[in-house]
Parts: sequence; C-alpha cells; structure tokens
Amino acid sequence: MRILLLCHSFNSLTQRLHCELRAAGHKVSVEFDINDVVTEDAVRLFAPDVILAPFLKRAIPASVFEAVPCLIVHPGPLGDRGPAALDWAILDGADQWGVTVLQAVADLDAGPVWAHRDFPLRSASKSSLYRHEVSKAAVEAVFEALEKFERGETPLEVPKAQSRWRPAVRQSDRAIDWAADSSETLRRKIRSADGMPGVRGELFGEPVFLFDARPFQAPVDPSVSPGTPIARSGPAIGVKTIDGAVWIGHVRKAGRQTVKLPATHVFERTCTHLPEIENGYQDIRFEQDGRVGYLHFDFYNGAMGTDACTHLTAAFKAAIEQPLDLLVLMGGPDHWSNGLNLNLIEAAHSPAEESWQNIQAIDRLAEEIIRTTGTWIVSALCGNAGAGGVFLARAADEVWVHPATVLNPHYKDMGNLYGSEFWTYLLPKYSGAENAARIAEARLPMGAEEALTLGLADQILAGQDHGFVDLVRQNAAARLNETLPQRLAQKAATRAQDEAERPLDAYRAAELARMRKNFFGFDPSYHVARYNFVHKIPKSRTPLTLAHHRATPATTSSAKRVTS
Ligand code: COA
Repeated sequence: MRILLLCHSFNSLTQRLHCELRAAGHKVSVEFDINDVVTEDAVRLFAPDVILAPFLKRAIPASVFEAVPCLIVHPGPLGDRGPAALDWAILDGADQWGVTVLQAVADLDAGPVWAHRDFPLRSASKSSLYRHEVSKAAVEAVFEALEKFERGETPLEVPKAQSRWRPAVRQSDRAIDWAADSSETLRRKIRSADGMPGVRGELFGEPVFLFDARPFQAPVDPSVSPGTPIARSGPAIGVKTIDGAVWIGHVRKAGRQTVKLPATHVFERTCTHLPEIENGYQDIRFEQDGRVGYLHFDFYNGAMGTDACTHLTAAFKAAIEQPLDLLVLMGGPDHWSNGLNLNLIEAAHSPAEESWQNIQAIDRLAEEIIRTTGTWIVSALCGNAGAGGVFLARAADEVWVHPATVLNPHYKDMGNLYGSEFWTYLLPKYSGAENAARIAEARLPMGAEEALTLGLADQILAGQDHGFVDLVRQNAAARLNETLPQRLAQKAATRAQDEAERPLDAYRAAELARMRKNFFGFDPSYHVARYNFVHKIPKSRTPLTLAHHRATPATTSSAKRVTS
C-alpha cells in the first residue's frame, strides 16, 4: 500500500511505524502537519491509499479525510477521546490502558474504530509508557487495521455511551500539594507530565517545572517540612515529602526559553550545602554475576553530558578491572544513548566549548571500549539509540537489541554535524563502506531487523517487553563457553591489525577536525539546529529524506531503504 504518515513531528512512534511499514513492503512517505494546504499538496503528490496519523496535535481537515481514508492512532482504549489520554490514565492510577486506531471524522477521536489493543499500565513515566507499551500496541493495532482496510472491511462505530471526551490536563489538575501528597502521589503527578510539559512547582522558592521523579530510599529527618530540599545525588535533589522524600532529577525554570536540565545544575550554587548521598539517585550502576558484569546507565533521555561520560568511563574502567570474562553495557530501560547532552550544551556559557568538551569525553569512553581486549564487551539495547549513541554501542564487540529498538545512526539532521565516536572507523568496519555512506546520507531510523542486516546489531533478543533483561542474562551466560578465549584472542589480533592500518588517534583527529568546524566555524547550522531541537521549535517543512513525494530523483536514491 501507499501510506502517507501525517504527523506533528517524526517522533518515536512515527519512526517505529516508518521502520515496520517499510519492512512489511509498504511504500511510505511522511508529511509534517504544518498547514492544511501543505497536507493537501502532499496527498495530491503522493496519492496514498491511506493516511496514517500516529502523532497529531490537531484535527485533520475535512478536505483531506474526505479525499483519503485517514487512520488516527489514539493512545487510549476504546471510547477514550481527547488530547491527553496517557496523562489522565497515569493521574487516575488506571491499571489497564490501551491504543485505538480510528478513522478521522469531523469530531476529534470520534470516528469508527478499525482496531484496538489493551495493556496493563506499568507504574512509569508517560514517555516510558509511550515508548514501550503504547508503541507495541500501536504497531499491532495499525497492522490489524491495515489488513482489515485491504480486505474491504468497515470500521465499527463506538456506542455513544462508551465514548468519553477528556480535555487537556491543566497544571491545576496535577498541582503539587506538599502538605498532603504522599511520595507516591507526587511521583505519579510528575510521571503523568514527563517528558512534557512537567509539573509546575517550587524549589528553593523558585518556580520550576519538575521532571524525572525517582524513589528516595535513604532515612529522612521527620521534623523537616515537606517541600524542603534535603539532599543531593548526581543530577538530583531530594525533596522532603509527608512520608519520606523523592528525588527530582530534572527541572526547567519557569519562564520563556528555559531548558530542562539536571536539578543540581539549575541550582548549582543553592544546593551546595545539601548533603551528598552516594548512589541515592543512581544513574550508573554496576552489578556482577559470576564472570559477567552488567553496567547500567540510565541517563535521562539517553543524553550523555561531559560529567556523565566521565563518570561512565570511570565505571567502565573499574568494571573491567574486575575478574570478568564478559561485560554487558545495559544503558537504561528507555534509551541506550542519544549521544551528547544537547540541553546542557545549550545552557552552557559557551555552547561551542561545551560541545567540544562533551565530544572529547564521549570519545574517551568509546576509545576505552574499543581498546579493551581482555574482556568481551556487549552493548544490550532495551531502548533506542541515536547519533553518537549508536556508534558508542557499536564500539562493543557485539550489539544485542530488543526487537522494537529503533536506531538513528546519523548526525546530519543536527545541522550537518559531522559526528565523532569513531564512527568513521566503526561504520565501514561493521556495515561495509558502501552501506556506511548510504546510512550516513539517508538519515533514516532503522528497525532491529534492518540493523541486523546492516551490521549495526548482531542479535535480536526476542521475548516479552520487560523480559529483555532476563534474555540478556541468559545470552550472556551462554557466551561463557569454550569459544570465548578464542574470540578474545581474535579480537586482540584484529585490534592490533586495525591499529597498524590506521591508528584510532588518526580517526579521532580527522573526526574532531570536522567537529571543531561545526562547533567553532563560520557555519552556524549546528548551533541553530541544536537551539531548535532543545527548544522544540516545530519544523516549517518536512525534510526531503522523509517526504519522498517531494524529493527529486537525486534525493530519492539516497533516501531509499538502505538495504534495497
Ligand atoms: N540531548 C538532550 N536531550 C535529548 C537528546 C540529546 N542528545 N536526545 C534526545 N533528547 C531529549 C529530547 O529533547 C526529548 O526531550 P523531552 O523529554 O523534553 O521531550 C526526549 O529526549 C526524547 O527525544 P525525542 O527527540 O522526542 O525522541 P525521538 O525518539 O522522537 O527521536 C532521536 C530520537 C535520537 C532521533 C532524537 O532524539 C535526536 O535527534 N536526538 C539528538 C541526537 C543528537 O544529535 N545527539 C548529538 C550528537 S552525538
């Protein structure tokens, strides 16, 4: 089928569907919902059989849904309607939720239903649920809907009594009451608004939006008033509640043009007096099971700033000092890594200088991974990875991925950023020179199967969504067989040979010379793109790498599925 993905932005669910639909043989093009006339134009140019809308912020105009059937993916169960479905589900403490694929009509989310799926609602942030349960249910429901559509079936009307409209959530609906809310209630309110828009609150008397609330396990002085900051740990500030405390990992100062940042960064000066609790808010955690080590790094949004890279490098070095045969780099449950922390860079006194420090810090980590020859290193991706994060993962000897993992192995969308992390060594090595060039040019997301075909992954660990960690453990145990010493010897020999052909330092120097130009040079594209990304400035047109219907023959050939 010819499927036009109409979306507010190319978000994670849209990327996942883009990968799955192309893999299933559909012809897919993308148009951002910018203007009705632009959408009408896209429909005329692409002549789709169906329009699929996985992520929209407004209704589709009648001129479009009357011309072509439009299927809307709504992140709520049968009968649920409105723009804040997941927010309400979390706030209400629902234990079941769902996804519905319905046909667009004049009233928002009121059309007949093609397919739906339900799932148990985990106690997690909105963006985590969206990336796991919602995406899985949406893919299944979309494929069912498309099959029914192809068979000429008709969608089912939802009985009026079952239909419930819920408006947008206001800040007052999830306002924090430090004097009355338990730690669990506070965390639930914050989770319902995480990643966007956050919950309005106060820290040190300053209005902020709160994000990234995690349980606080240390003992707490009961005489301190709720709402008082009592401790710090890594990026987080611990705040007293009526029944304990919560860690607040990230905040955004209220006001225009502010950026979401680690809480201790925003209150750098104010929080110095707070006691530091080691491993209170644990974004890096090492565990050992016999000869296998697991290094978990759950950085918020997978963003790895200079400090995060430095700490992780230290943890990596400490881990391989242990008597291990195999070390698994686990990343976090939602993201493995998205490379440099663009928010911290944006907020820095000199973004160019901070970019420069950050890229060198992440390169040091990548180099440690590549140069380790005495331990077998595996990257296990439960979530997605983007830009430098993909190549950081590929620096390991093996990459295992969840079947739903989406990789974005390219940098160019960030203002033609050249990229580093030894990608010029790793990508041709694992994907071949020709594919490497096409991957870098295409700037497209890649699903697990495609990553496997193109050498960016070595194994897909299939199982239930949250059984991934168990599958990693089973696989790691299976690797500890008699072939491991041989593999390690082969790895050391290959590394020595690669080094003799061209030293890692030469790759780094060449990459960093290009990055220096991106950061400090005449062309401001990277700074502009980063500003727009961090401040979530909507795109004013769809990139030609996605909008195939607008592409010239030259852009079409590079944007074609890279394996084709
Ligand atoms: N630094 C800081 N924040 C980042 C980030 C980064 N490198 N990458 C993603 N994020 C944040 C986003 O701002 C967003 O924040 P929110 O919680 O306020 O909504 C959140 O992570 C999710 O990102 P989003 O872009 O919505 O995810 P996606 O799944 O739609 O897209 C990517 C994934 C990787 C394509 C996209 O996040 C991206 O391009 N990231 C930047 C990668 C990059 O250029 N890194 C620097 C060079 S190494």
